[in-house]
Amino acid sequence: MDKMRISGGIPLKGKVRTQGAKNAALPVMASCLLLKGRKMTLDNVPHLQDVETMMELLRSLGVAVTRSGSGIVLDVPETVSWEASDALVRKMRASSLVLGPLLARCGQVVLPLPGGCSIGSRPIDLHLKGLTQMGAKIEIRNGRVYAQVERLRGRRIYLDFPSVGATENLMMAAVFAAGETIIENAAREPEIENLAAVLKSMGVQVDMEGTGCVRVKGVEDVHNCAERVIPDRIEAGTYILAGIMTSGEITVEDVIPEHIDALLAKLEEAGASFSVNRSASRNAVVVHPVKKLKPISLKTMPYPGFPTDLQPQMTAALTTSSGVSLVEESVFQARFLYAAELGRMGANIDIKGDTAVIKGVDSLDGASVKATDLRAGVALILAGLAAKGETRVENMEHVLRGYESIDTKLRALGADVAFETGER
Ligand code: EPZ
Repeated sequence: MDKMRISGGIPLKGKVRTQGAKNAALPVMASCLLLKGRKMTLDNVPHLQDVETMMELLRSLGVAVTRSGSGIVLDVPETVSWEASDALVRKMRASSLVLGPLLARCGQVVLPLPGGCSIGSRPIDLHLKGLTQMGAKIEIRNGRVYAQVERLRGRRIYLDFPSVGATENLMMAAVFAAGETIIENAAREPEIENLAAVLKSMGVQVDMEGTGCVRVKGVEDVHNCAERVIPDRIEAGTYILAGIMTSGEITVEDVIPEHIDALLAKLEEAGASFSVNRSASRNAVVVHPVKKLKPISLKTMPYPGFPTDLQPQMTAALTTSSGVSLVEESVFQARFLYAAELGRMGANIDIKGDTAVIKGVDSLDGASVKATDLRAGVALILAGLAAKGETRVENMEHVLRGYESIDTKLRALGADVAFETGER
């Protein structure tokens, strides 16, 4: 399972259904720690490595987590452990999302500092600064965060950067705080709204206002809740780009079009052809074939700007456009590692500071390439689907963290892909 073989050049055809959003499921699962002797039922939870890791982490803290069909049930005991294990936190950075709920529920937490990864150092200073402002005593020693507080106090907190994780941790920390917490310059990603909906269904008063300001009024206790995870806008965007890059005709179902506005706007600018079908039960985006994309310029931004998690995939699509495109990465420090791998396939990409200059080439050629992170890995798969000949993408464990059944889904669209193990 460590590499995927792709025989490229086949136009994709057919339907693919979007999974539940990984980046919504993870914070929502962590929020179950706010419950005490109660249950959370979540539907549309994707079968992903990162979700398994979060389930393992919650079990290690005392939560009974069971899968039931497309969902999970999280049964939270009266008391949970407030010490997260190094192994699990180092395995997945999103483990730091237990910080807020554990501090709110238990008044203390020991959390190993999450590591950096190939896209940047990824500190949690904004999380810790906000919790300190709410009255927590925080120490960092031996690579761990030691946090404790009698009871957090509601505060007005201004985030220096609209950090998704910091917004989520502070929203959860505010649930039992004395008074109201107002988070300004908060992240506005749809996954935050999903978390707000879950907190509301627990009995918490959360106002998102949609203006980058989140208000949370502290309560005495919270109760059972049952909610659904929103569709994964990044997976949806990835398959839309797969259809475009192979000049295919595919339908991506269970999409919330507003969540991928920036992507659709840039694709329209690049001359892609697609339609958005809205229906009561399920929205879909239908991709129609085009010969070549026109070159464009884009800059990744916090939501509702162009999402950084679709930057590698969009760059891959622009490698065969009819001109020179510019892609600027403004969210992470180093998210162009994959460009050299695309270069092995014939792409012409020059990285100048935080901008990729992409000169369109006629076509890509299959090659052996290595995934360096989740989105870079899937960008290489997209390139392999479009390229002539055979591509092998190694280190597929990165991709399996965020793309449910990606081989099955691609084969259902007519792609010739298969996992391989060992040396070939
Ligand atoms: C979330 O990460 C997502 N992960 C990321 O998706 C996504 O790329 C990112 O938001 C931006 O949209 C999950 O939701 C599990 P941030 P997060 O805090 O919360 C800096 C994927 O592929 N920063 O908004 O870690 C940070 O270094 C992953 O699914 C600080 O400096 O993102 C980065 O440069 C990758 N200090 C920027 O802000 C802090 O305390 C954005 O980080 C926090 C963040």
